[in-house]
Amino acid sequence: MLDDKKLNLLLCITGSIAAYKSVDLARLFIKNNFDVRVVMTEASKEFITPLTLQAISGHQVHENLLDTEAERAMGHIELAKWADLIVIAPCSAETISRLAQGRADDLLGAIILASEAQKFIAPAMNMNMWSNQTTQQNVEYLSSIGMDFIGPSKGEQACGDNCYGRMSEPVEIYETIILTQNKPLAGKKIIVTAGPTREQIDPVRFISNNSSGKMGFAMAEAALRSGAEVILITGPVSLSCSPKIKRLDVQTADEMYREAQSSMSDADIFIGCAAVADFKPAHENIQKIKKTDKDRLNIQLQKNIDIISSLAREYTDKRFMGFCAETESVEEHAKSKLIKKGLDFIVANDVSKSDIGFDSDYNEVSVFTDNSHQFFQKASKSLLAIQLVNLLSQDNQSLH
Ligand code: PMT
Repeated sequence: MLDDKKLNLLLCITGSIAAYKSVDLARLFIKNNFDVRVVMTEASKEFITPLTLQAISGHQVHENLLDTEAERAMGHIELAKWADLIVIAPCSAETISRLAQGRADDLLGAIILASEAQKFIAPAMNMNMWSNQTTQQNVEYLSSIGMDFIGPSKGEQACGDNCYGRMSEPVEIYETIILTQNKPLAGKKIIVTAGPTREQIDPVRFISNNSSGKMGFAMAEAALRSGAEVILITGPVSLSCSPKIKRLDVQTADEMYREAQSSMSDADIFIGCAAVADFKPAHENIQKIKKTDKDRLNIQLQKNIDIISSLAREYTDKRFMGFCAETESVEEHAKSKLIKKGLDFIVANDVSKSDIGFDSDYNEVSVFTDNSHQFFQKASKSLLAIQLVNLLSQDNQSLH
């Protein structure tokens, strides 16, 4: 619990099949010493009963804007003032739209307008409703006025679709909020590398790999939530990140190294999540290589600089977390890289598995230090990133 002060959390539930997960979310907060009150919209009651939430929270559930009983106990203004945090989970497309319009014709809308509490939104809806331009514009607007979106995640939905729109798991919502509140790495500067590098063979061909950047971007977002200043150096990917992250786009390993080197002197932690190409063509052809009658084409490769290893040897006062992508003997290779590269942590993932690692939204990792081994079971990359940033903050505390 944050500084041992019992925080007041207002959990708002809207109309979505994911409403059943709110019970677990409420439980998690209560178990961790939050005082939880619940607001339910009319539509949410089609999915879960107020009685369930009353039993879990130990308080009467708030349902109506104009309710004489509620006004005598806790009306919308009192609830708005009472809350230290407001979490809308699940938050439907309808509610997102109403919030963007500033509607105050139901209890939830009125509380959101009246409250100065920090507000978190965990969307849940069909994938097309989520990707719809109107919803995305509403999300962008609400984010710009300080509402903090958690998820949605990718996965199987109640309607049978499998894409973004699923409410994030309660534990992810909980851990994200705790990290955002506690900010254990405030004042620290963290450099994260992400994505593949691209080593040009000629103007139209290159050597690269399957890294999507998802793991590295998740690490950067988690580092930002932990209060750190974050520099994200990324190879070519099709992802966006928070405007609060300083993003540097690069193509090659050499460029990635140069950017990292120039930000390193006042950094505290380096996280190497990028899948850096180990080799680059020894000579880059200025013109496109022409097809000839020969069956073979020889391209000579030369070793790229090992970015994380060079930096770890030069900056011995900083902490280094490397990732390693393995397809066999994961533990053995990970431990050997930890030592060879001079790292403090190595995060090993088995990229031979198709449901984790490269381009998946999920991962499963083992973290090795010189005297410990910790396994993190399969979870979304965003949740894993939070768990890994928590590891870094424990390490940071133990150093002081
Ligand atoms: O991007 P995603 O699709 O989300 O996939 C995530 C991931 C699988 C790419 C990620 O989790 C991961 O494993 N990243 C590291 C991949 C890798 O390059 O592993 P490696 O074992 O080759 O390298 C070990 C470490 O050395 C890494 O920190 C790497 O960034 C670093 N390295 C490697 C080579 C090099 N020339 N310079 C480096 O700094």
